[in-house]
Amino acid sequence: MNDVVLTGDRPTGRLHLGHYFGSLANRVALQERHPLYVLIADYQVITDRDVPGEIRRHTTDLLLDYLAVGIDPARATIFQHSAIPELNQLLLPFLSLVSVAELGRNPTVKDEIAHSSQRAVSGLMFTYPVHQAADILFCKGTLVPVGKDQLPHLEVARLVARRFNERYGVVFPLPEAMMGAQPLLKGLDGGKMSKSRGNAIALSATEDETAALVRGARTDADRLITYDEERRPEVANLLTLAGLCLGRDPGELAAEIGDGGAVTLKRVVTEAVNEFLRPIRKRRAELTEADARTVLAEGNERARERAVRTLEEVRVAMGF
Ligand code: TRP
Repeated sequence: MNDVVLTGDRPTGRLHLGHYFGSLANRVALQERHPLYVLIADYQVITDRDVPGEIRRHTTDLLLDYLAVGIDPARATIFQHSAIPELNQLLLPFLSLVSVAELGRNPTVKDEIAHSSQRAVSGLMFTYPVHQAADILFCKGTLVPVGKDQLPHLEVARLVARRFNERYGVVFPLPEAMMGAQPLLKGLDGGKMSKSRGNAIALSATEDETAALVRGARTDADRLITYDEERRPEVANLLTLAGLCLGRDPGELAAEIGDGGAVTLKRVVTEAVNEFLRPIRKRRAELTEADARTVLAEGNERARERAVRTLEEVRVAMGF
């Protein structure tokens, strides 16, 4: 069976190397073999904040990042929530298939509530996973490349699909999660890599910005560079980053650096990252915002056609 692949991101800022090795590289590979939908999940931005903020800017940046890393709009359908009203129409019947208790038990939602700075938790916080089920099911997605935090949402999508099929006849395939095999990249300070923590190298970072970020990375005082995740997590993480960029084993890189210390390590990392980002920067520089808008308009149109068909099937199955 040929899988239909769907995945997406919230447009909240530029993507970084953690996103690249964690998911973008995989998408670029998958588009060769499967129909691929890439969702700019703009309505999800207002789950954990009150207003969408600079949503247009962030949407364009995300799109440029996608195109720069090689997601090919001739193969992949790149689209956004806010352009597909049928997703909202699917949300309503889908909501009837899940209980309030089930919505309240979602561990990712609970975690987001615990870390939220919002004064009140909105109804959307509990129901967006059902909207996300519509994201996956409208195109009859069967394979969803996601990180671990998204697994509870995938369970909601499976639950919705299963119950819909039981009540109204089989319309939806059950989607499966696809977990990345890559080692998790941490930020340059050893914490979770995140743009808001200032410890991430954006795909759009310049050579100088990259050098400055790596210069500021945390290391340790031992001059002999070794790859030891347990005892030297920061050094190991830098070696992992250089290894991913060069397609080489981090332990081997450590042996080559030997007693060159943090200075040599950082030089190796900076060169590896800059070399790796060079073609991505070049493609990005060649793209205009008008190109990005055209790509999105075309993707939205294609996704919408697909959504209209599925919504019609749903209406017929339900007897409306
Ligand atoms: N919730 C995802 C995130 O925060 C984004 C997303 C929205 C998504 N819809 C999706 C991911 C559908 C996979 C499938 O990153």
